[in-house]
Amino acid sequence: MAGVSVDEAMRRAVTLAARGLGTTSPNPVVGCVLLDSDGTVVGEGFHAYAGGPHAEIVALAQAGERARGGTAVVTLEPCDHIGRTGPCSLALVQAGVARVVIAVPDPNPVASGGAATLRAAGIQVEFGVRAQEAEVGNIAWLTSMRRGWPYVIWKFAATLDGRSAAADGTSMWITSEAARIDVHALRGTVDAVLAGVGTVLADDPRLSARNLRDGTLAIRQPLRVVVDSSGRTPAAARVRDGAARTWIATAAEVGAGPDGRVDLPALLAELHRRGVRAALLEGGPRLAGAFLAAGLVDKVVGYVAPKLLGAGRTALVDAGVTTIADAIDLEITDVTQIGPDLRITALPRKREA
Ligand SMILES: NC(=O)c1ccc[n+]([C@@H]2O[C@H](COP(=O)([O-])OP(=O)(O)OC[C@H]3O[C@@H](n4cnc5c(N)ncnc54)[C@H](OP(=O)(O)O)[C@@H]3O)[C@@H](O)[C@H]2O)c1
Repeated sequence: MAGVSVDEAMRRAVTLAARGLGTTSPNPVVGCVLLDSDGTVVGEGFHAYAGGPHAEIVALAQAGERARGGTAVVTLEPCDHIGRTGPCSLALVQAGVARVVIAVPDPNPVASGGAATLRAAGIQVEFGVRAQEAEVGNIAWLTSMRRGWPYVIWKFAATLDGRSAAADGTSMWITSEAARIDVHALRGTVDAVLAGVGTVLADDPRLSARNLRDGTLAIRQPLRVVVDSSGRTPAAARVRDGAARTWIATAAEVGAGPDGRVDLPALLAELHRRGVRAALLEGGPRLAGAFLAAGLVDKVVGYVAPKLLGAGRTALVDAGVTTIADAIDLEITDVTQIGPDLRITALPRKREA
């Protein structure tokens, strides 16, 4: 890529950043493109895993001396602190770059300040190029850092008439194998998977991320969380197997809400403290209803099967809605056919206070 604009370079940096999705947590995904003074790409990098080199360091290593006098285009404000790696702001100063173009400022109070350090060293710093794309690419991490609790994705499977189980309680498998493979891929992108004790008692799920064909476990497993007010999860439940870490979150440990059940905001605050930035709420209907009623769901991913049941449990219970005017409005952002099923992705619209 020769003679590219800063805008094109940022588009490339956003694409690079996405390669780290699912492996960088509790760190953000970050992409960086280095241009020399003629606009020729001399280095590229992304943050691949927590503890590994940051995007800027990878790109600087590629560029070597050619970074001097050039422009660093980076999706997130370079960090300014010494964590598991040194501050990127200092590395950029030492490499002699003349200009740093950033999409989104770093909301993390521990790491922010990179722009100020760069400016103090006489480097020209600009913000906002392709900010919206970079924001979307890092939405779970940014949201979680800004407000102090994880980005919550509610995933469910239902028939076309909105049922999650038949009248006799059978629910495996509503959706196709292709849709279930997609769910396992989704599990691989989050830090925690949450289920209510009702689902554990009814279905005994493993909640691990696996290859469904041969059963092999994904290298990176999300923390499994059972929301279980009084500790009813059986000792032999599959969720307690050795495939991944498991936390049985009880009201005694987390705190109780007004109904005596696990206090959900306290649960999310504790998960954030444990490094969880993105959480997948896998049900069931009652726990999902409590999350939605409390306004704690950021994204909905529904797998809808071309089946009708006409009776049986609905996909959502007690979401705090009694009249149509109070329905939780969603904005659909994607519809994809997966095998015979539809995957519908939607964002809850913000409610008036
Ligand atoms: N189709 C799907 O996508 C899907 C997904 C999952 C499950 N399911 C089906 O759902 C059924 C189970 O439904 P369910 O509603 O009983 O299960 P659930 O939503 O998984 O669990 C509900 C239980 O979670 C516990 N809980 C703890 N804190 C809570 C809080 N703050 N608010 C609400 N609940 C809290 C409560 O038990 P305690 O008070 O004892 O803590 C509550 O009874 C099964 O038939 C399963 O097959 C379907």
